[in-house]
Amino acid sequence: MIADFHSHILPEFDDGAENTAMSLKMIEESQKMGVTDIVSTSHCYPIKNSDIKDFIAERNFSFGKLVNAASAAGKELPKIHLGCEVHLTCDLMKFSSIKSLCIEGTDYMLLEMPSSPWSDNTIDNVYKLTISGIHPIIAHAERNLSQKTELLNSLYDLDILIQINAVSFGIPQLKKFIDKMFASGMIHVVGTDMHNITSRSPNIERARKYICKRYGLSCWEYLMRNASVILDGNTLSYRDFEIFRKKSLFGNK
Ligand SMILES: [Fe+2]
Repeated sequence: MIADFHSHILPEFDDGAENTAMSLKMIEESQKMGVTDIVSTSHCYPIKNSDIKDFIAERNFSFGKLVNAASAAGKELPKIHLGCEVHLTCDLMKFSSIKSLCIEGTDYMLLEMPSSPWSDNTIDNVYKLTISGIHPIIAHAERNLSQKTELLNSLYDLDILIQINAVSFGIPQLKKFIDKMFASGMIHVVGTDMHNITSRSPNIERARKYICKRYGLSCWEYLMRNASVILDGNTLSYRDFEIFRKKSLFGNK
């Protein structure tokens, strides 16, 4: 399995694929890179409970358009796992239907942290998800590095997983962070976060090449195995990174 864990492939839905032709092109490019599984993670910004119901209905409608277009074009789709990229707008546990935003067939949820400064409350809101049985996967965690060190450490002390965007591998400013994360077993899945075929394109190959070269094939296989465990509806063991949990990732604590 080669899984892309973060994508905006659904047509005419969020700021991703603008039509079915673009969706199919993004998928075709991914397949050329060997991608077998795509987790569809359209943006979701829940403010009230009904937003979630509306999101699911609109997402299913958009997915239907994609399936019909692929069928009409005689194209075989990879396995598409419907999920979303949930923005941590507030205490999400106040929404009774929040679990329906997990990736289908799993208890895992791709969670986008706020880009504004975090507070203790932000971390509490993630904690509440973890104790509800939801496993948050922090989307493109490399974007959060400007947050306060103690808050980042508090987040990483929780039972969360980490997703990194393919485009971030090889960026000099992120090298130290990504090295440290890999050394700690704290990168669990990768995704392209593709939105189109130009500026934010299918590029899982960039991640695969970089990871294999710098950290070894076993590291890439570890990421794909994690994806497989999750997408099969199982729970990842945290045993692999217990050692890391004894110390802080950022600075000394
Ligand atoms: Fe995204």
